[in-house]
Amino acid sequence: MIPLSAPNIAGNEWTYIKDCLDTGWVSSAGAYVGRMEEAVARYTGSPFAVATSNGTTALHISLLLAGVQAGDLVLSPDITFVAPVNAIKYLGADPLLVDSDPENWQMDLEILESFLAAESEIRPGGCFHMASGKRIGALLPVHVLGAICDMERLMAISGRYRVPVVEDSTEALGSRYRGRHAGTFGLLGCFSFNGNKIITTGGGGMVVTADSGIARRCKHLTTQAKAGTGEYFHDEVGYNYRMVNLLAAMGVAQMEQLPAFLDRKAEITRIYNEAFAGLEGIRFRQDVPGSVPNHWLYTIQVPRLRQLREYLESGGIECRPLWVPMHLLPAFRDSRFLTRNNQSEYLYQHAISLPCSTHLTDAQQQEVIGSLIRFFHG
Ligand SMILES: Cc1ncc(COP(=O)(O)O)c(C=O)c1O
Repeated sequence: MIPLSAPNIAGNEWTYIKDCLDTGWVSSAGAYVGRMEEAVARYTGSPFAVATSNGTTALHISLLLAGVQAGDLVLSPDITFVAPVNAIKYLGADPLLVDSDPENWQMDLEILESFLAAESEIRPGGCFHMASGKRIGALLPVHVLGAICDMERLMAISGRYRVPVVEDSTEALGSRYRGRHAGTFGLLGCFSFNGNKIITTGGGGMVVTADSGIARRCKHLTTQAKAGTGEYFHDEVGYNYRMVNLLAAMGVAQMEQLPAFLDRKAEITRIYNEAFAGLEGIRFRQDVPGSVPNHWLYTIQVPRLRQLREYLESGGIECRPLWVPMHLLPAFRDSRFLTRNNQSEYLYQHAISLPCSTHLTDAQQQEVIGSLIRFFHG
């Protein structure tokens, strides 16, 4: 099987993890957690970074820190992995699902802005949805597939309607917009290091922010809100959302390799794009002008998606469709879906992700290309 996006463990992972085992620092205290936080802060250019147990807990705590409360509405994309929309629900808030832009596949900012212009009003306490009286607690863009949203426009909308932005940058480590790293535009940004991401700790996450008070509170809440170092005195309801030292050690080693992983991902994308350029029916995602994606998961639109998947998988090539749109999932069927022509279902029915691990060999990539061309042209 040629895997879709497998971990590449070729650096100092063994050495650093052995160091944890040798010294006994395997759990939630230990120097690698701080080193991982520093590495991500430095790399992203964010003043503060707080390591978490995974990307979902990073999102949960970030929405809480942004002030989202029970009964609020949070705008997020309809096409995404489910985690950000679950995180909205953890706080007792409700998602408003925004359709995808047909060109760049990110949350459609035209739809978002039209909704806010037509249906919201700003009054003391924030921005409110007029018909329901509910507060709009946050905008939660997802940088889908590591391709970055139009952050200039999104931040302008955030400022105009006075709604904070929490960026789900979980897929976008290494992605930039006008030179600035994904996750550093909003009040908070979140990253994931799960197994299929551009770097992995097995399972882990990170919150970044430029606000020192928020960073301090993030550390506090994610470490059970323990006040002081002596007694077990906890001054509010906290969470055990810490990253453990063992996994942070792996993360430090993976961060050392991130620049090389990014180069390799870009090269894989270039080779696929050149090979598929002339194929009828294939459509490519367009990058938002000014953005440089991390090329995390190579994904194109194709005709006859189901048959192509069966064909590739029967030939030992792992591939994947996009996520089922959120408005089709049982938990979110009652959530409002803001759309003009249901672009997210079209994407779901046509988009396919192809093998793009950073250690994909040239021969494997040629096999994928050859199979796809044979499927469409015999
Ligand atoms: C868009 C998105 N948000 C959130 C997550 C959740 O991250 P984790 O699996 O680390 O909890 C993921 C990936 O897993 C994701 O792709």
